[in-house]
Amino acid sequence: MSALPETPAFVVDAEALRRNAVLLREVAEASGAHLLLALKAFSMPAAFPFLHAEGTCASSVHETILGGEFGGERHAFAAAFSEREMAALLDAGLNHVTLNSFAQLAQWRRVAAAHPRGAQVAVGLRINPEHSEGQVPLYDPCAPHSRLGIRRAAFAGQSLEGVTGLHCHNLCEQNADCFARTLEAIEDKFGDLLPRVSWFNFGGGHHITRADYDRGLLVRTLRAFRERHPHIRCYLEPGEAHVLNAGTFVCTVLDVVENDGPIAILDGSAACHTPDVIEMPYRPRAFLDPAWDGAAAPGPAALRAGGPGEKPHAVRLAGPSCLAGDVFGDYSFDRPLVPGDRVVFEDMALYTMVKTNTFNGIRLPSIWLRRGPGDLTCVRSFGYGDFRSRL
Ligand SMILES: Cc1ncc(COP(=O)(O)O)c(C=O)c1O
Repeated sequence: MSALPETPAFVVDAEALRRNAVLLREVAEASGAHLLLALKAFSMPAAFPFLHAEGTCASSVHETILGGEFGGERHAFAAAFSEREMAALLDAGLNHVTLNSFAQLAQWRRVAAAHPRGAQVAVGLRINPEHSEGQVPLYDPCAPHSRLGIRRAAFAGQSLEGVTGLHCHNLCEQNADCFARTLEAIEDKFGDLLPRVSWFNFGGGHHITRADYDRGLLVRTLRAFRERHPHIRCYLEPGEAHVLNAGTFVCTVLDVVENDGPIAILDGSAACHTPDVIEMPYRPRAFLDPAWDGAAAPGPAALRAGGPGEKPHAVRLAGPSCLAGDVFGDYSFDRPLVPGDRVVFEDMALYTMVKTNTFNGIRLPSIWLRRGPGDLTCVRSFGYGDFRSRL
């Protein structure tokens, strides 16, 4: 147990993780689908005990090895693996591999034939149902020219020998209606293959733990699919849903400069520590709260930030790096920000710690776990050695 963290810091709230885990368990039990954790979104071993998943899905050899620390089934997919990586996946204890082309399938067959565990791994193919639900091409695996998934036409004349599963991922932070429509597209285009496979992984992007997510529809959709295809074991592999609204990023105001309005320069960087803010882009929710105890949501005394013009004091929140666009966004508060203020950004457990970088030599945020009210533990802090060792 320790005092409130030094900044910049990520604080993961175990109580919020448990709340998500309860919802995910309910969905898994009611639907009969098996839930995995997509490690790409969140891979903090100290928090693994608070999550509900029957295993992990990895995007690389390293994540597959880490999946061993989580336990349960270990699945992996990448747009392509080298032969060496395929052998390393087998060494690491992989159970299911999903391949992205028939050339990768042929390569897998060769590598697996020469490996003592080769016959123990279930092999699947990722399909592209050519059905988009997202509007943003950066996050749409079914966008034109996508490299992700095999289109139906490419199955012509190919052997499915040794293939026991299919995989489809085309959602991003989406509701169950998007999944229901995707499933229709899958059955429409790939329905003739379904009697031949024994598992189907419906990917991630299911925002199951979001307040307005229609969990009933997800359950009904999956149950109906399982009734139509009782021989198929269904998987979902969300990342975000496990850790949605379960962590914060805490920064301190270092200075406030003026250029057509105040700009608060924080010790945390959007470019280095929360790159999705710039990539997506989006403006994270934020608050000030001197009484904050590390909880994922603001307490009753918190001053929540508004968007531009909502509150009397406009301010741009920005990072310390040289990148002109190292900006979290334009906000407004009930009072002006001053150096020493702590700004807490919400919903920062997902796609943050896994994406940090040390551009400009800026220190990586420390990582904290809040086990309960007032119970904060520093899991990891970083220093010069972490910067130096990567270069
Ligand atoms: C193949 C695959 N599975 C699972 C996920 C996890 O998605 P999310 O974190 O949006 O649930 C992703 C995200 O990109 C993915 O590409």
